[in-house]
Amino acid sequence: MSQFLFVTDLDNTFVGDDEALAVLQYQLSQHRQQQGTKVVYATGRSPTLYQQLKEEKMLSNPDALVTSVGTEIYFKKDTVDTQWSAILSDGWDRELIVAIGQQFPELEPQPISEQRPFKVSYFVIHPAESLIVELGVNLKKAGLKTKIVYSDGKNVDILPIKGNKGLAMQYLAQRWEIQPEYTVACGDSGNDIDLFRVGEERGIIVSNAQPELVAWYEANRSSTLYLAKTPFAQGILEGLAHFGFF
Ligand code: GLC
Ligand code: MG
Repeated sequence: MSQFLFVTDLDNTFVGDDEALAVLQYQLSQHRQQQGTKVVYATGRSPTLYQQLKEEKMLSNPDALVTSVGTEIYFKKDTVDTQWSAILSDGWDRELIVAIGQQFPELEPQPISEQRPFKVSYFVIHPAESLIVELGVNLKKAGLKTKIVYSDGKNVDILPIKGNKGLAMQYLAQRWEIQPEYTVACGDSGNDIDLFRVGEERGIIVSNAQPELVAWYEANRSSTLYLAKTPFAQGILEGLAHFGFF
């Protein structure tokens, strides 16, 4: 057994099966104590919605918390890593992005808590493909460096080009000097795809994954990615055994 970096999405990945979650949390805490393994939560939620879930599901404190789809990193509660924020500000103009978003009546703004300094989020009801393409063209024309992420068949996030879950994971791995082959990420939906395409990091996709992630996996199969046969935390345990981490 050796140290590794464990990065996981929360909703419908780490969280979803309370019994399996208890087993996984226990095993991770043992590994952390004995090997110095690092645990990172990488969620789409804002810090506010994260706190709610943390209390509801009694989640252990992670070594770092990545919220808002990779655009905020916290080592300590309520203290955002300003070095990461500085990287994200390149080509980002929040007001201009909101103004462009307003030109699309199909985009319904998400609640205010989910609108973050480096994340502009909407709900979309209709099939979103052409809409996303058009939105992307308009953002680019305005000189913005953004990326659009579509998840769960209903969420559309506009993020800085340099800020997503995968790049946040890489930033943490570099800081802790953990190699890609000792890094593993887990997810279930579109906003997790970036975790799986940064490089040689290992990836676990739980069996209950959303169609947009399964479709991406089918098109990008590799020996570093594992589609589990079981859901939620059980799927994570299965994947960790597959890669030999546990
Ligand atoms: C979480 C966030 C939401 C975001 C979604 C997908 O549900 O609360 O704002 O759109 O993740 O990334
Ligand atoms: Mg999820």
